Amino acid sequence: MACDRSNAGNENKDLVTTFAPNLNPNTMATNRTFTMIKPDATGAGHTGKIIDRVISNGFTIKAMKWTQLSLADAQAFYAVHSERPFYGELTEYMSSGPIVAAILEKDNAVADFRELIGATNPAEAKPGTIRADFAESIAANAVHGSDSDDNAAMEGSFYFSQRELA
Ligand code: CMP
Repeated sequence: MACDRSNAGNENKDLVTTFAPNLNPNTMATNRTFTMIKPDATGAGHTGKIIDRVISNGFTIKAMKWTQLSLADAQAFYAVHSERPFYGELTEYMSSGPIVAAILEKDNAVADFRELIGATNPAEAKPGTIRADFAESIAANAVHGSDSDDNAAMEGSFYFSQRELA
């Protein structure tokens, strides 16, 4: 599924300012992307296997944390989808258990990571992709990957301040 975030620029910058005033989305390197390992995958014990898959495909971890979103956090993170019919299901699901949030670095990070994880709907994900191997459904689809450099910066700054990057 293509995520249309074209109207979210100003709202995203507000979010960045609210959640991580120390991280300027305009100066974040474009060779970074943001990911979450979702509650289905953490709950099924797939966290280590997914992190290994990410690292062995050339991504460097710049920041990582194990945490759980409140419903309000999930609603803010996915605000761009607030008009979608699945918004309630998505935000309840994403706040239902632990997630692992991470900023990853690699040349062409956003596009390469989306290739590595596969289609949003695991039934359509290519064999060998993370979602084909670990996801349960379109909602419980194992991992999130940013769909643009701007969204990678905004999403990373939702979780991490500049001093947490290493
Ligand atoms: P993600 O990459 O986290 O970005 C938005 C999420 O919305 C997406 O992965 C899916 O998990 C979820 N999503 C997209 N379409 C649907 C749908 N039709 N029903 C439930 N969840 C969906």
